[in-house]
Amino acid sequence: MAAKENLGAERKRKIAVTGNQGYIGSVLTRLLIEAGYKVVGIDAGIFEDVQMVPRLPATVQIKKDIRDIEKDDLAGCEAVIHLAGLSNDPLGELDQQLTYDINFKAGVRLAEIAKKAKIERFLFSSSCSTYGASGPKVVTEKDKVNPRTAYAKSKVMMEKELVRMASHGFVPVILRNATVFGFSPRLRLDLVVNDLTANGYLNGRIEVLSDGTPWRPNLHVMDCAKAFMFLMEAPAEQVCREAFNIGQAANNRQVRDIAAKVQQVIAGSKIIIKSESTRDERTYRVSFDKIEQAGWQAKWSINQGVQDLVQIFRKRGFDNEDSKFNGYYTLRRYRAMMQAGLMSNTLRMIDDIKVKV
Ligand SMILES: NC(=O)c1ccc[n+]([C@@H]2O[C@H](COP(=O)([O-])OP(=O)(O)OC[C@H]3O[C@@H](n4cnc5c(N)ncnc54)[C@H](O)[C@@H]3O)[C@@H](O)[C@H]2O)c1
Repeated sequence: MAAKENLGAERKRKIAVTGNQGYIGSVLTRLLIEAGYKVVGIDAGIFEDVQMVPRLPATVQIKKDIRDIEKDDLAGCEAVIHLAGLSNDPLGELDQQLTYDINFKAGVRLAEIAKKAKIERFLFSSSCSTYGASGPKVVTEKDKVNPRTAYAKSKVMMEKELVRMASHGFVPVILRNATVFGFSPRLRLDLVVNDLTANGYLNGRIEVLSDGTPWRPNLHVMDCAKAFMFLMEAPAEQVCREAFNIGQAANNRQVRDIAAKVQQVIAGSKIIIKSESTRDERTYRVSFDKIEQAGWQAKWSINQGVQDLVQIFRKRGFDNEDSKFNGYYTLRRYRAMMQAGLMSNTLRMIDDIKVKV
């Protein structure tokens, strides 16, 4: 009996994480492993070499495109956390059909494989950008989504399909993550807080490209990882087929206000509003009451995340030359990989990365 229980406990600990070598995935993999889980990482390896600090390897790493996943890849897993795919609006516009194929079709196929394999919990990394242009109203999960881009549309389609697939033995949970910020081994500098911080730190200029008025919810990458773990462990009846906005009310900010927060940390830096006349139509203020009522709260303020980033930049002597590396910018990296012949025009990896791209 005791041996059986042990086997059960052991089996419970194996989690598949797609996109585990990405910005969020690198932090989440470490968090899960440190919490005692085994992680089966599935990633095409597009950012494999992008490591400002070494990332903690998954227990098992499968180098594969999510379009090619098979049942055996998920063998013995108790949950799937699905992060892989085209991960922001500009990248989603590169080829809208491929955004549909990778973010929606391959995602649904993965969920079907998981369901057939009797893997009960399936967590999907959706986005608050599904709310699109919701104006000054604070939106909740009950409000209508209003996706404005191919990326956001693919997230909404995937959410709907997962809700449809939910059953007694299949518990999909949707995390509508706010825009993430903060340090990760696979650093992304194309996210608003990180971008403003890197520019302020390197050049003393905090450049806001729009008129700075759009509202954005923000979420630290460690909080994001913790929310995945919380919802993975939450009772099924509390979370099945539910969408949760992930973030905190205090981090709902207008972009010009984020710039002011960065300026407070970086002494002597200047805010430059590049275009008083350019309005970004994507603006949304989000309620996080639902996840807080479920018992989880984000901890990191924007100020703490900026301070932490600046400390790491200082410690590592991060300079303007380093910041040019395509690996820190999602769309630029894909384009550079294609130009170098490392990625096909269907966004499949052709070869291993042996040079700096
Ligand atoms: N970063 C944010 O602000 C944010 C906010 C909301 C939602 N999300 C979502 O969270 C997820 C992770 O975001 P991220 O910032 O870590 O992105 P990322 O681009 O840093 O990581 C994505 C990972 O997926 C892998 N990948 C991409 N296409 C693949 C494919 N076809 N097959 C296998 N692997 C593939 C990449 O190699 C990469 O390691 C994405 O689904 C994104 O849409 C991110």
